[in-house]
Amino acid sequence: MISVVTGGDRGIGKAISMMLVKEGYNVVFTYRSRENEANKTLNELREYGRAECYKMDVSKWEEVRETFKKIGDAYGKIDVLVNNAGIAGENAKIDLIGVDEWKRIIDVNLTGVFYCCKASLPYIIKARGCIINMSSIAGKMGGKLGVHYASSKAGVIGLTFALASELAEKGVRVNAIAPGPVDTELISEEVKEKLKEFSPLKRIAKPEEIAHAVKFLIENEYVTGEVIDVNGGRYMD
Ligand SMILES: NC(=O)c1ccc[n+]([C@@H]2O[C@H](COP(=O)([O-])OP(=O)(O)OC[C@H]3O[C@@H](n4cnc5c(N)ncnc54)[C@H](OP(=O)(O)O)[C@@H]3O)[C@@H](O)[C@H]2O)c1
Repeated sequence: MISVVTGGDRGIGKAISMMLVKEGYNVVFTYRSRENEANKTLNELREYGRAECYKMDVSKWEEVRETFKKIGDAYGKIDVLVNNAGIAGENAKIDLIGVDEWKRIIDVNLTGVFYCCKASLPYIIKARGCIINMSSIAGKMGGKLGVHYASSKAGVIGLTFALASELAEKGVRVNAIAPGPVDTELISEEVKEKLKEFSPLKRIAKPEEIAHAVKFLIENEYVTGEVIDVNGGRYMD
């Protein structure tokens, strides 16, 4: 079984890649800039099974198209695609968010998901596989990371619903996960401390807890067009 994880060199993507390789999947992960980190992750994955990685910027269509063509040529199909790569913006307040910054966040977090779904489609359909998109609680509640981040993650939810509806008859399932704060580099240590106070469970998530939701969405073949919340009870606030 072939799985592809974008932004799999660290953080949530690495935890997902690790879960997949331990479950017996052949893991192909992508990274954008940190070659050393990617090679380190690759070595760790190979202790458990088969893995390889490709350098790919999800916001560049030609790069995405060529990378998925290479993966498709090598493996013939893709059983699981996890669109995990994403970024948070530099400024959270709308008056400080420039037009270029707005576009940068949308290009990576939303257009990147569209590109990866589009480029992988023939291989996903061939496998009657599944797609899991990383949204965020920000896509449902707004949050404090800014209008660009929240809009991109809300867009991922819309894309997930529409694609799930379109691909159901081909036997392909499409779901999203909306994590609350997770212990990765995406948020600063200072912000993490503050976010713990907001959480009913008084902590933020471990990346492995998001990977666990990915495992559920792969295994339960009757779930499609859903967004799974993994946020430590934030809706009880
Ligand atoms: N951490 C949280 O609290 C949290 C909460 C909800 C949702 N999420 C979502 O979960 C996903 C993973 O986040 P994380 O917390 O694991 O963040 P992270 O530790 O910062 O990792 C993000 C990964 O995405 C890659 N990436 C960023 N821009 C890219 C691009 N243009 N093309 C390809 N890869 C790119 C990064 O590589 P480079 O740095 O080399 O670009 C890195 O591998 C994101 O979509 C994020 O929005 C995170």
